Amino acid sequence: MGIWKDYLEIRKENKRKRFMIKSIKSYRKDQISDWKKSLDDDINNAKTDTTKTATENEKKELIKKKNSPNKKGYIVNLKKVNKYFVTGLNIEHVLKDIDLNIQKGKVITILGQSGSGKTTLLNIISGLLTPETGSVVVNDKELMLMDETELTQFRKDTLSFVFQSYNLIPTLTVRENIKVGENLRSKHAKEIPMKEILSTLDLTYQAKKYPYQLSGGQNQRISIGRALAKNPKILFADEPTGALDEEKGREVLSMLMKINTKFKTTIIIVTHNSNIAKLGDMVIYLKDGKIHKQTYNKTRKPVSQIRWL
Ligand SMILES: Nc1ncnc2c1ncn2[C@@H]1O[C@H](COP(=O)(O)OP(=O)(O)O)[C@@H](O)[C@H]1O
Ligand SMILES: [Mg+2]
Repeated sequence: MGIWKDYLEIRKENKRKRFMIKSIKSYRKDQISDWKKSLDDDINNAKTDTTKTATENEKKELIKKKNSPNKKGYIVNLKKVNKYFVTGLNIEHVLKDIDLNIQKGKVITILGQSGSGKTTLLNIISGLLTPETGSVVVNDKELMLMDETELTQFRKDTLSFVFQSYNLIPTLTVRENIKVGENLRSKHAKEIPMKEILSTLDLTYQAKKYPYQLSGGQNQRISIGRALAKNPKILFADEPTGALDEEKGREVLSMLMKINTKFKTTIIIVTHNSNIAKLGDMVIYLKDGKIHKQTYNKTRKPVSQIRWL
């Protein structure tokens, strides 16, 4: 069958690539350090060159370029991503030639029917799954060149997840549960003061209470607070309202939108509810493992104004 042949060819090719990956890595390291050095030179020249004195803005641009090689401001950049799942004698081509750019600081919704590949796509962006082909660049790092240890570190430093189940620690107070997330914060990420987290999530007066003393909605907010305390680059929510009633569902979505507005966190929401898609800036429609359509909302609809079902 064609699909098996494609898959086996890819596997063979990947085996060959893996042999090369170590050398590619050290090559890239050299390349990056060369490139950083040349930018350093540019910056120094700009500082010392008396005939052509760089303006403050030019200097800023150079420094920005040095810190972030991704000029277009994309935080996620996928190219030709293909993912297959093999179970026994069955093979399924779950993601097909996915090309996707996600801009920093936006709210993205991934929309599609059950089984269309939404969770798989999310898992690839978060480095939990490796595709068979393609390039996955997140926060300026190529995940395809990372080993398991590097991927774990990448996830720890860069991402947070909001789960349907709260997974709180019952013997810790609200503040202490949120602190758990703060302890996972990368040393490069700026601290968000506890006071601000509590007030963003309307938990200021609950800080010393225990989860059992609070409602389901409040517990869900604690878990969002814990995700926020890491100050992640990207916050993922896979069907965040799937198991909630309308009131709690709206509450969770409002919190996610508030976090994006306040902290400029890129938020990726996976959903099969097309009403939710109106909240964000960009909508990606998945169908049969392909990006069927990609649309942009000029204005975001407030959570209170979307229809629920
Ligand atoms: N670990 C896995 N092993 C085998 N098949 C899988 C696995 N994960 C997902 N699939 C299959 O991939 C397809 C897409 O799944 P998924 O990404 O979970 O879809 P969605 O989140 O849109 O409902 C489904 O047909 C599913 O059965
Ligand atoms: Mg799913």
